[in-house]
Amino acid sequence: MKKAVLISTAILLAVLTVVFAQERGVKKKRPLPQDYGKVVLNNFSEKNRMAPVAFDHWLHRSKFTCRLCHSDIGFEMKAGATEIKADDNINGFYCGTCHNGKRIFDGKFLFPACDKGKRDEVCDRCHSSGKDVKRENNFSELTAKLPKERFGNGIDWEKAEKDNLIKLIDFIDGVSISRKKEMPVQKDFSLEPKVSGLPEIVFSHQKHTVWNGCEVCHPDIFTGVKKGATKYSMIEIFDGKFCGVCHGKVAFPTMDCQRCHVKPVS
Ligand code: HEC
Ligand code: HEC
Ligand code: HEC
Ligand code: HEC
Ligand code: HEC
Ligand code: HEC
Repeated sequence: MKKAVLISTAILLAVLTVVFAQERGVKKKRPLPQDYGKVVLNNFSEKNRMAPVAFDHWLHRSKFTCRLCHSDIGFEMKAGATEIKADDNINGFYCGTCHNGKRIFDGKFLFPACDKGKRDEVCDRCHSSGKDVKRENNFSELTAKLPKERFGNGIDWEKAEKDNLIKLIDFIDGVSISRKKEMPVQKDFSLEPKVSGLPEIVFSHQKHTVWNGCEVCHPDIFTGVKKGATKYSMIEIFDGKFCGVCHGKVAFPTMDCQRCHVKPVS
């Protein structure tokens, strides 16, 4: 009994050390709401005298599901890992799946990616990192009516969707693999923290599947097709593994303890 208490105190201390270390770095590191989820791509750009590419998750996730990009189109969930080349885009892969000058969205043609016949201003729309490029899609204007949250983009994306304030596209003809309309429903479950006395974590399979499908999580992030098969700790989550692959980068960050631990943690 005493030993168990000692162990849980030790784990809690370790977790809190990580939290405080993060908090201390927060002042300079916590991004502005519009910069949360921004990915800067520079595998090849500067080597070819182009500015690095800035990709905003907030704008794209307000229109498409995670699954469409990370499963059907095939972007990795790790900055820089896809190694996108200008030729891929020109040939209609990756960004060029949509940004090909032909696809119509909201009544206008989507500007093309890496098309050599185009002028610099078109290039600048993506190759914008470190440059003073004016965005056509303004964050404050476009998100003004969406429900607010404390962290991340400052937006409760889940509620925005539930209230029909955003409608996400999950299928592109000729790109997405056609599949049964309804994905199999998985039971929601609660995860028990290894430390006794901590409020349990609620994990909704059903909700996550709407955003991510199955393929994004299984088997890459969670091998376990059996609950409990994947062992992970809060420290690993803070470190960007397991739930932390998304939570802390694009989905609401780990600082928001209560959204996973349904009651206050400490
Ligand atoms: C329009 C396409 C698109 C949509 C929609 C999208 N993503 Fe991404 N995502 C990307 C691209 C592109 C990258 C960068 C990939 C690379 O560099 O190889 C990325 C990277 C990521 C990363 C890694 C970030 C990092 O800093 O390492 C995570 C995590 C992620 N996405 C999660 C999500 C989640 C969760 C959603 C849904 C809420 C989502 N994405 C929706 C295109 C998209
Ligand atoms: C699934 C389709 C899709 C994919 C894939 C996609 N985009 Fe977009 N993107 C859009 C739509 C729709 C808009 C909003 C329409 C607009 O601004 O004209 C947009 C807007 C943008 C803008 C906003 C420009 C502005 O002035 O506000 C940038 C920058 C951008 N995309 C970059 C990228 C990059 C870089 C990639 C690849 C890493 C990418 N997109 C992949 C659909 C896509
Ligand atoms: C819709 C977004 C988008 C637009 C618009 C765009 N690019 Fe790109 N481009 C990318 C992405 C993403 C990469 C990969 C970035 C990296 O990792 O360095 C890239 C990479 C490149 C590279 C790197 C070298 C190579 O061969 O892969 C060159 C050169 C390039 N683009 C040229 C251009 C030119 C010229 C324009 C304007 C005519 C342009 N791009 C417009 C998204 C875009
Ligand atoms: C956001 C990530 C995520 C998505 C999306 C997701 N899962 Fe899971 N799944 C998990 C986690 C986490 C577990 C528990 C694993 C563990 O504890 O080792 C799990 C467990 C399971 C289990 C075992 C359940 C049990 O009670 O033993 C099955 C079966 C499963 N998933 C199937 C699916 C299917 C089918 C889909 C798509 C319809 C899906 N999952 C989508 C994260 C996800
Ligand atoms: C593949 C990406 C991904 C992974 C992995 C992931 N999530 Fe999420 N999760 C999301 C997205 C996207 C949302 C929507 C809200 C947002 O973006 O802020 C979300 C929302 C949630 C919510 C609020 C919705 C609800 O159920 O009431 C909870 C709680 C949550 N996640 C817990 C977890 C836990 C616990 C894990 C690990 C077992 C996990 N998530 C793994 C992407 C992910
Ligand atoms: C994205 C969801 C999510 C968020 C946000 C989150 N946790 Fe956790 N936490 C988990 C999961 C899942 C576990 C279960 C790991 C296990 O024991 O299997 C866990 C376990 C724990 C544990 C038990 C020790 C361990 O490593 O398992 C502690 C302590 C903890 N969390 C504290 C926190 C604190 C403090 C915060 C806020 C700063 C926080 N958590 C935010 C998902 C989350």
